Amino acid sequence: MRAARFHEYGPADVLVIDDIPEPHAGPGEIRVRVAAVSVNAVDWMYRAGMLRDYIPDNLLPATPGCDAAGTVDEVGEGVTGVSVGDAVFGLAMTFGASAEHVVLTAWAPVPATWSPEQAAGAGLAVATAVSGLNTLGDLSGKTLLVEGAAGGVGSAAVAIAAARGATVIGTASEAKHEYLRGIGALPTTYGPGLADRVAALAPGGVDVVLDAAGSGSVTDLLAIAGEESRLAVVANIQLTTSLGLRYISAENDSAHLAEGATHGANGHYTPHIAETFPLDKIAEAHRYAERRRTQGKIVVTL
Ligand SMILES: NC(=O)c1ccc[n+]([C@@H]2O[C@H](COP(=O)([O-])OP(=O)(O)OC[C@H]3O[C@@H](n4cnc5c(N)ncnc54)[C@H](OP(=O)(O)O)[C@@H]3O)[C@@H](O)[C@H]2O)c1
Repeated sequence: MRAARFHEYGPADVLVIDDIPEPHAGPGEIRVRVAAVSVNAVDWMYRAGMLRDYIPDNLLPATPGCDAAGTVDEVGEGVTGVSVGDAVFGLAMTFGASAEHVVLTAWAPVPATWSPEQAAGAGLAVATAVSGLNTLGDLSGKTLLVEGAAGGVGSAAVAIAAARGATVIGTASEAKHEYLRGIGALPTTYGPGLADRVAALAPGGVDVVLDAAGSGSVTDLLAIAGEESRLAVVANIQLTTSLGLRYISAENDSAHLAEGATHGANGHYTPHIAETFPLDKIAEAHRYAERRRTQGKIVVTL
């Protein structure tokens, strides 16, 4: 099958298209014929060699891609509730999704309201947003601040938290404020003076905070939250753990994806796709993502 790979760490140019053996679904897994795969920060970080402390070098060559949407073409032993031919989106937590076939370890049906590209864009973003939000308790009637609200994870978090009944304040650069209003957030800019701007938008105070930017503002966000139990950090593991704060990883949980799909079906969450690229242009997709200015998601189609 055709798959994007990098044989060495480096800039996006190290990505090539190779012909490699197809993977197969093990127990508890499914395999999909991939229609679309999203580019997540972890993909270009891995390719650039920034994850050397976490992933052994001897796994190279590697295929990027942690989430995909496609059609089920193998169902592993013990799996129920899904059949060959079903349209699903889900997680490939050990990479490999930028290929014609990938094995998924968590998945949910694609709602009729989403294109395959939107479904691909929802995978890891929803899993991360829900994993973070779930640590903040019942959000109904609460005010939530999302740092990095216009990105893939942040925009999923805004939509899901709003659907759970929260009032959401989201940070982004000014050009993205109209977008934030459209997905259900009160927009403000990030950077110095954030606490004052947030106080003006939420005179009753902010109850809980999600850091989906990892831009170095986490101590300011902790001050706004008041205590660590009211802060969920899903970005910048190095800084977060060096400060002794809890870092939340995306959970490999089909229920999280199903929640995203439910909000998709009822119109509360529509993944925004900034740009799509064919597989042989995946290097361009990585270059785009690495700028860290994406509104929503970048998707590669097969
Ligand atoms: N915990 C996990 O398991 C997990 C899983 C997936 C992702 N992540 C992490 O979550 C973070 C977000 O991922 P993503 O895919 O959403 O990234 P992304 O789509 O690349 O985020 C881009 C967005 O970040 C915004 N941004 C850039 N600098 C900012 C700042 N200083 N303050 C606020 N917003 C800022 C940009 O908005 P402007 O253009 O308006 O500046 C842009 O819309 C990454 O650090 C990623 O590594 C963690």
